[in-house]
Amino acid sequence: MKKQPFILLLTIVFLLLSCNQKAKISKDEMIEKKIDSLLVLMTLEEKIGQMQQLSISRHFNDTVYDLVRQGKIGSFLNARNLAMRNELQRIALEESRLRIPLIFGRDVIHGYKTIFPIPLGQAASWNPVLVEKASAIAAKEASSDGIDWTFAPMLDIARDPRWGRIAESPGEDPFLASMLARAMVRGFQGEDLTDPSTIAACGKHFVGYGAAEGGKDYNTTLIPEAELRNIYLPSFKAFVEEGGQTIMSAFNDLNGIPTSGNEFTLRQILRNEWRFDGFVVSDWESVAEMIPHGYCKDEAEAAQKAILAGVDMEMVSQTMQDHLPSLIQNGTISESFINLAVKNILRVKFRLGLFEKPYADSLENVILTEDNLKTAREIATESCVLLKNEDNVLPIKSSVKRIAVIGPLADAPLDQLGTWAFDGRPENSVTPLKAFQEMSEGKKIIYSPGLKTSRDKDMEGIKQAVAAARQSDIVLLFLGEEAILSGEAHSRAFLNLPGAQEQLVEALTKTGKPLVGIILAGRPLVLSKIEDKLSAILYAWHPGTMAGPAIHDLVFGKVVPSGKLPVSFPRAEGQIPVYYNHKNTGRPPREEQRNITPGDPMNPVGFSANYLDLDYLPRYPFGYGLSYTSFDYSNILLSADTIGFKDTLDIEILIKNTGAYDAQEIVQLYIRDIYASITQPVKELKGFKKIMISAGDSLNVNFGLTVNDLSFYDNEGSFLAEPGRFELFVGKNSRETIKASFYLK
Ligand code: BGC
Repeated sequence: MKKQPFILLLTIVFLLLSCNQKAKISKDEMIEKKIDSLLVLMTLEEKIGQMQQLSISRHFNDTVYDLVRQGKIGSFLNARNLAMRNELQRIALEESRLRIPLIFGRDVIHGYKTIFPIPLGQAASWNPVLVEKASAIAAKEASSDGIDWTFAPMLDIARDPRWGRIAESPGEDPFLASMLARAMVRGFQGEDLTDPSTIAACGKHFVGYGAAEGGKDYNTTLIPEAELRNIYLPSFKAFVEEGGQTIMSAFNDLNGIPTSGNEFTLRQILRNEWRFDGFVVSDWESVAEMIPHGYCKDEAEAAQKAILAGVDMEMVSQTMQDHLPSLIQNGTISESFINLAVKNILRVKFRLGLFEKPYADSLENVILTEDNLKTAREIATESCVLLKNEDNVLPIKSSVKRIAVIGPLADAPLDQLGTWAFDGRPENSVTPLKAFQEMSEGKKIIYSPGLKTSRDKDMEGIKQAVAAARQSDIVLLFLGEEAILSGEAHSRAFLNLPGAQEQLVEALTKTGKPLVGIILAGRPLVLSKIEDKLSAILYAWHPGTMAGPAIHDLVFGKVVPSGKLPVSFPRAEGQIPVYYNHKNTGRPPREEQRNITPGDPMNPVGFSANYLDLDYLPRYPFGYGLSYTSFDYSNILLSADTIGFKDTLDIEILIKNTGAYDAQEIVQLYIRDIYASITQPVKELKGFKKIMISAGDSLNVNFGLTVNDLSFYDNEGSFLAEPGRFELFVGKNSRETIKASFYLK
């Protein structure tokens, strides 16, 4: 009964604000006023309640409803279904004192029901337009099930393919990652956050999580400030600049301070420098995990450090809820910190329109529509990277009549969806086998999996696979990793094909038939044992719902492969980390050292940053990917030899499609700052364009570089460009480039 006067007051305040002042004040100002007027009505308990997120999967029992009634919860993740979501919302709105709507989050990582390629695969498309489209579809599907907020995009730069979460990452490059971050924000959030088909995005995991030592998930990260700012932060900065509404603090300990209690990253960088005004949610129990990290003695200290650092909402663990009241009472922290956190949360709830439209409607014709599947197919084709194509064995020639489809991933509807595809259903997957059986008119498809799963070691099926191959003209061999071998807490020390897949390849080589390896995996694999035995290799990642049709389109040449690697592929695990934008060192790698013969005396001639027993270069460089056609790069033209700090350097390059197919090419622009006050990478991506060129045609491609592109963060955290010579490279990947140079004066 007591709540009536409050509600009345609240309604009057809102009405006054919305009627009279609409013309005079902006939408943002209006929201700030609403927040202030709401905050003054809130008890400390209600404020702290807004800061708690619980998971239905972890906490569900009847007391949850009571907690909502009491205003002790601000958000849920993983609400089971629309009905439960709306019922919880109803309780918040009708039975809690202040009627503040809940916000419902979920991991919609690479699609909701229509599953797109894993994020690393999407990155291989180098196509922000398509990535944006896929994210918009994911938002629409998810919002029709009552999801307001996704825990995506994952923006962790990853240089270590042992790390299972590389699958979720945009790869190793900060520039590409930033472009994709922006595209995903635009896709998820649309132009109007109050539009019911958009959802709030969450840039995660802030920050440095991908640098986990040894590729072991959750492991320590040690990242010097300049490296943090130049490599690991730009994708998050781009996310914030594009209007991303929430950020997730991470699990890792960064330079000795866990990231969910890290004032430097959360308060100094995110809030003070970047002026982020959305809210920060901690990762699952990461606040409480500051105790095992050895950074907090107990939960009270964890709550204190998290709030002081800038965590606004605690996911799953309840240290803030349990301890903030006494920490405020005994004067350890000031209530102003809580007020700030609550304001950040309410701001996002207002921006999402949750106060006006708290309930979600189940919409028809939104899930798995023809259009959604078409986009899924398109982005899957653009994600695949052609690594090898000896004697142009692909696309399949019309003379080929009998095709053997072999391998444990040819018909693995769940695995092709990849990691973090909670809501994707295998029954909606079109597997490669199905696609080839249904779409290959006039061809005979002979199927034999050879192995049941990617980890299967049973050699029995291999004999039948060999028999199937013998009856064919060409073998399509679907190899790789099951979905469960990548993702969170799924790191691997060996990156070769698991199970008896290498033996399967070996057995098939005896048939003498051309073998086309189509690899479905969540990370770069080390293919050294099978590579020579395969005539072609198409790297498909985990392509999602439409894997089959997408691969069919590529293999038959209906679409020409255009994907390029967003991450370097190692020759062996011992090369890791191997990434293109490394430093030069004082002794860059030289060949001589590899020719040491037994008995040679120790001789410093030729000592360099190299291995004795392996090439120093990755197997496939960043940006690499073949096409069915060929492109010739020539005539690089710069607008000047020397530019000033206010100038733009214009760059033009002529690209000719010298092959027989109309095709897309991803033209890449790199620079190198030859010397500076801190050492610089040997190459840094500064631009790319994905363009279509018809067979035989030429196209001029233009780029512009400003001083911003030539700047870097130094050890003091200043962003600056330094005069001097720069090299510039344009090419089809980070290794095959043509070069020019200029001066900044
Ligand atoms: C992951 C996050 C995810 C969260 C909620 C955590 O284990 O690290 O990426 O968003 O769970 O499911």
